[in-house]
Amino acid sequence: MAKFSAPKGTHDVLPPESLDWLSVERTFADVCALYGYQPIRVPTFEQTELFSRGVGETTDVVEKEMYTFEDRGGRSMTLRPEGTAGVVRSYLENGMSSLPAPVRLFYTVTAFRYENVQKGRYREFSQFGCEAIGSAGPQVDGELIELLLRFLTKVGIGRIRLCLNSIGCPVCRPPYLELLRNHLSSRRERLCRHCQNRFERNLLRVIDCKEPGCQAATADIPLQIDHLCTDCDQHFQSLQQLLAAMGIAFEIDPRIVRGLDYYTRTVFEIISENVGTQGTICGGGRYDRLAEILGGPPTPGVGFALGVERLQLERRAQGLPAAAPVRPLIFLAVAGDHSALAMRLCRLLRDRGIATETDLMNRSLKAQMKQASRSGAAYALVIGDDEAAAGSGRLRDLASGEERDVVLDDLAEELGRLDQQTGGNGHG
Ligand code: HAM
Repeated sequence: MAKFSAPKGTHDVLPPESLDWLSVERTFADVCALYGYQPIRVPTFEQTELFSRGVGETTDVVEKEMYTFEDRGGRSMTLRPEGTAGVVRSYLENGMSSLPAPVRLFYTVTAFRYENVQKGRYREFSQFGCEAIGSAGPQVDGELIELLLRFLTKVGIGRIRLCLNSIGCPVCRPPYLELLRNHLSSRRERLCRHCQNRFERNLLRVIDCKEPGCQAATADIPLQIDHLCTDCDQHFQSLQQLLAAMGIAFEIDPRIVRGLDYYTRTVFEIISENVGTQGTICGGGRYDRLAEILGGPPTPGVGFALGVERLQLERRAQGLPAAAPVRPLIFLAVAGDHSALAMRLCRLLRDRGIATETDLMNRSLKAQMKQASRSGAAYALVIGDDEAAAGSGRLRDLASGEERDVVLDDLAEELGRLDQQTGGNGHG
């Protein structure tokens, strides 16, 4: 039979790397809690229209990258390409507007995009995200950005840049687009095929095209931040003042337009020096019109999503050590038919929070001792027939080789004491 392999663009995360994922996920949840963000879980697939309307018909994500299928009931469904549309759908569907604003939510999701696979760009990938819904003020943007940077610092990430832009609102964007179109119309032929296509349908994206021809053609274009309406301009200025007041360094990059259509006003990205062309670890911004686009009342919102694979690439590139593998504090090695005793002891020790392993493979005592060392345990407890009869065991310090007898009834206490002495946490 043919061997199976993980589908292109997907990947397994194996121990101990998977432990590191767990640890950054916990850190993310802890940081979110500091700011009153609560966890939300939304479905992996939604009606296709949620994304085509929410993310935007003319975006690359919707045009080319969605995993869309018809379910057995003939409905068109799509594996989520991102988290925001589903969260806003849930906010509207569950009447969360009755909660005190802003409603602050965070999530860990996998997302799916049919991309050209390369380092840092996958077809199934993970995101940590935050959404603050119901407040239009720049304070929410500022707090959210501060949260994000705190998280990145906590997981050891340095050498990154926070890049900010404002892409206006329905008042100032249409006249700006008109200006841009006029400016570019005589150079349309110089744009790449893709951007010629975008010219009518999604002109803003031409600005961040990486093709040299497009970059040359757009080198001197008018920029949205120079054509913001008064409200958008004030919002952007206030955000910058707030960030400065919090001591947060940022750069203005007037070419950030983001790849999803729902953005208004603030947009931002965290760029790393290390992850190369996929250097955007995180992207986010305001989406003040998304709720309306999805059929709800006008409800401002702002959020970000951080690519976990890229975060981990960045952490490795910055030389951060991977997590230590899981290790027991003690390995119980038992002779003969005393496995029931071992299982009972394991249960008691685990009740006390002590990580414990024993033989599950009917190994010889010698092989069990080998396994004890391999498991990384700090101690092994050997129980032969005599010990079992006496209710005792031989406790061996696997590092020093020292041995002594312990009464089984006292084992948990003894181990707890030894673990304390070495500043441990119940693990080897
Ligand atoms: P996004 O920029 O499309 O925004 O994705 C956010 C992050 O997800 C990216 O910066 C990147 O780190 C990661 N990412 C995206 N595509 C891939 C991929 N194919 N492979 C690996 N990582 C990837 C959003 O998704 C918005 N929902 C963010 C947001 C939340 N805006 C407001 N709220």
